[in-house]
Amino acid sequence: MSVKTRAIRKIDAVKVPSDDKRWLIVAAAMRKHGSAQSALIETLHSVQSSFGYLDDIALAFVAHSLRIPLSKVYGVATFYSHFRLKPQGKHNCVICMGTACYIKGSVKLLQKVDQKYGLKVGNTTSDNQFSLLEARCLGACGIAPAGIFDGRVLGNLSPALVESQLDSWLKESTANETKSPS
Ligand code: FES
Repeated sequence: MSVKTRAIRKIDAVKVPSDDKRWLIVAAAMRKHGSAQSALIETLHSVQSSFGYLDDIALAFVAHSLRIPLSKVYGVATFYSHFRLKPQGKHNCVICMGTACYIKGSVKLLQKVDQKYGLKVGNTTSDNQFSLLEARCLGACGIAPAGIFDGRVLGNLSPALVESQLDSWLKESTANETKSPS
């Protein structure tokens, strides 16, 4: 039996955490990427793209399947800003805290969000409207301070600009609620 075949059987034998069909997608991705420890990032990607975030159960599953200490899996998941450990809101606001953005005042942007919406980095509003995240350099230092709003990079941000973007999401959601039949 080849090394590759043994690896595939091992993954097949791993019990997935629940009968949620999304685990089948993850298992298929794991078959593709293999069970070597180097497949860790790919596996975390496939779990997150299937479930939207990585919870404790998912992290334990990945650690067990790849035979990697849970502390290492957790370390990788928390190191990369791409990975989310909590469910995300309908909208995402990512503020860059890289050096160029920090110097140009990105801390004030986070303070504004905290002050007005009571939201700290890594959290989501209680109505799940938006999540606030931070990143280390978006590759847009020329327009620092920069952020990403639902996938769109915006630069030269000020507290007022961030507030206006977040308010527009809230207004849009109120408008949609008013339109929808009761
Ligand atoms: S430091 Fe923020 S985009 Fe580079």
